[in-house]
Amino acid sequence: MDKASKILVFGAKGLIGAALARRLRQGSFKNLILADSDTLELDNRKKVYDFFAKTRPDYCIIAPIKEGGIVANIRYPAELIYQNLSAQTNIIDSAWRVNVAKLIYLASSCVYPKDCRQPIKEEYLMSGPLELTNAPYAAAKISGIEMCKAYNLQYNTRFISVVPATAYGPGDNFDLNTSHVIPALLAKFHAAKINNTPYVTIWGSGKPKREFIYADDLADAVLFLMRQGRLTEVVNIGTGVDVSISRLAQLIKRTVGFMGKIKFDNEKPDGVARKLLDSGLLFSLGWRPRVSLAQGLLKAYGLYKKSIC
Ligand SMILES: NC(=O)c1ccc[n+]([C@@H]2O[C@H](COP(=O)([O-])OP(=O)(O)OC[C@H]3O[C@@H](n4cnc5c(N)ncnc54)[C@H](OP(=O)(O)O)[C@@H]3O)[C@@H](O)[C@H]2O)c1
Repeated sequence: MDKASKILVFGAKGLIGAALARRLRQGSFKNLILADSDTLELDNRKKVYDFFAKTRPDYCIIAPIKEGGIVANIRYPAELIYQNLSAQTNIIDSAWRVNVAKLIYLASSCVYPKDCRQPIKEEYLMSGPLELTNAPYAAAKISGIEMCKAYNLQYNTRFISVVPATAYGPGDNFDLNTSHVIPALLAKFHAAKINNTPYVTIWGSGKPKREFIYADDLADAVLFLMRQGRLTEVVNIGTGVDVSISRLAQLIKRTVGFMGKIKFDNEKPDGVARKLLDSGLLFSLGWRPRVSLAQGLLKAYGLYKKSIC
């Protein structure tokens, strides 16, 4: 991949897509095609192929997604599976047809079994039942991984799937109905600080452990893999460190400067006890994250405050 390479990013206005665009610009890559949901309809096979035939990218990153948290998973499973399957199928097939040199497909840790051994190695894929509430979304993601592998096998392509830990950072979604835990807690603690609320309530016992990665680190890892000569078909991208929700809440409380108490609502479900990716494969190739959780939270909180000013 050189500075003149034509790089196509789908989902470029999302959390990870925008981080990829930032990283590419910082690296002086100027030949970028940044596609968002206004650019073209990804469920239209002809339009997607025509777009590839016209733009002829050298590299392609697939980061668009139809998602909406647990509510959408339950209410709109048909739309979720249709939109995700059709978009990725059209992109992967078109990329092969126009000879894209390398493609990276962003999967998700929900592809791993619900009760998976920890830390989760890439080889645990399809070794047990999925979490039922997001099975349609997970099944679409597994299909994307398998499609990349099948094209590599039959057509000698260089298509890689990556499985990232939960990302957070610039441009995060702070809508409490659909946001991930870090933006949700930043917004909650900030509101409690402004309103002088005596305590913040956290769902569950606080005991489950989760892994988080700063979006710019994740983008950096994706581009690192894009430059690798060796073809590693499925690669976890994490930090190798997880944190309990209770510890995370303490860190966010300190970051925000909230002086009240934290209460845990044990009536609410905890979800799986632990979700930590084994990123040993990626680390063995020479990549390491740069932003610690404490640093990332500080950056994310600064950006949140700016966004609500
Ligand atoms: N964020 C995480 O923690 C995380 C973790 C693991 C894996 N991933 C994976 O990483 C990828 C990117 O995640 P993200 O967090 O950046 O998602 P995001 O912030 O929700 O962004 C997704 C983007 O995809 C766009 N999009 C949706 N349908 C599209 C279409 N038909 N054509 C073009 N763009 C379309 C959306 O645009 P509109 O808003 O305009 O619809 C949105 O900008 C996803 O595949 C996700 O599964 C994310």
